[in-house]
Amino acid sequence: MKLLVTGGAGFIGSHAVLEFLLAGHDVLSLDNYSNSSPEALKRVAKLAGRAPEVLEGDLRDEALLLALMREKRFDAVVHFAGLKAVGESVEKPLIYVDNNIVGSAHLLKAMKDVGCKNLVFSSSCTVYGMPQKNPIGEDHPRSALNPYGRSKLVIEDMCFDLARSESGWHMALLRYFNPVGAHDSGDIGEDPRGIPNNLVPFVMQTAVGRHPHVNVWGKDYPTPDGTGIRDYIHVVDLAKAHLAAVERIASFNGAEPVNLGTGKGYSVLDVISAAGKAAGKDIPYKVGPRRAGDAPEVWGNPSLAAKKLGWTCEKGLGEMVADHWRWQKKNPEGYKAG
Ligand code: UD1
Repeated sequence: MKLLVTGGAGFIGSHAVLEFLLAGHDVLSLDNYSNSSPEALKRVAKLAGRAPEVLEGDLRDEALLLALMREKRFDAVVHFAGLKAVGESVEKPLIYVDNNIVGSAHLLKAMKDVGCKNLVFSSSCTVYGMPQKNPIGEDHPRSALNPYGRSKLVIEDMCFDLARSESGWHMALLRYFNPVGAHDSGDIGEDPRGIPNNLVPFVMQTAVGRHPHVNVWGKDYPTPDGTGIRDYIHVVDLAKAHLAAVERIASFNGAEPVNLGTGKGYSVLDVISAAGKAAGKDIPYKVGPRRAGDAPEVWGNPSLAAKKLGWTCEKGLGEMVADHWRWQKKNPEGYKAG
């Protein structure tokens, strides 16, 4: 298939582009590199033995999108591009409207214009808001806790509305739990700009000496060890789920959400201890107060993904942290040195 991948150079995008290329699909990556590096796709090309087409551009450029869709006639679009930092979204909500919501609206308009009605969208478990119960199924009520989460909700709603308004749309709304890990070559991985907010990148940067210790945000939750529990998923498993979604996109009638997680929860201390084993050293941590807006436990029910995509996770926490560590050790400054 001929695929347009928005945000193809990002953490999840680059791993997905690699799986698409390995499976024989043709890829054009459209990325503005605001939070990613062109180096990622150079490394993907080496790993795949063939290169994706690469275009620097922005979803807010409506004319560019339209011209691209008209020229290339893609079979499907895989839409990763977007901002994803919760704290930043609280401080600068309008850039989340612009980049995420307006950018996605332009993309959908251009798809509609050329009659390309196959979309795989990078949604998030953030659309479930504060979980009412775990594991979370796709029918859990949705709500937004911050502008980032609201941007995902609005984009999902645009997809639902569009699919209801006319026939022929096939849209997979993939709701990721917590993506971590890296390709097992250690050549591509997550390269957050600035100080990471997410647990695993922070733990790994601590292991290479970039921070003195990890801050554990709260040890008084009603969980077995008192720290927060999340459903971490290996990015290569996640990338393979996108491949399955693209190849089975015709089985999506209208817009359908699908959870992507392992269905297992691990605590903050489980992650720090597993990462320490992978890195062969104790990772120092200090317990601090709870972080505002954090749920005690978030883990998903992945059974619909198994049914709909014929896909299940193959990699557990040990491989997630071992692969993330290999990437971090090989690339202590991320892609900067590449
Ligand atoms: C956050 C976002 C989610 C997004 C995900 C990307 C919300 C509320 N959360 O999830 O939308 O999809 O990132 O991976 O929108 N922790 C520490 N110390 C740290 C960092 C984190 O103890 O330095 C703890 C947190 O309290 C939490 C767990 O580690 O219990 C995971 O945190 P994090 O990696 O930030 O992910 P989420 O908050 O689950």
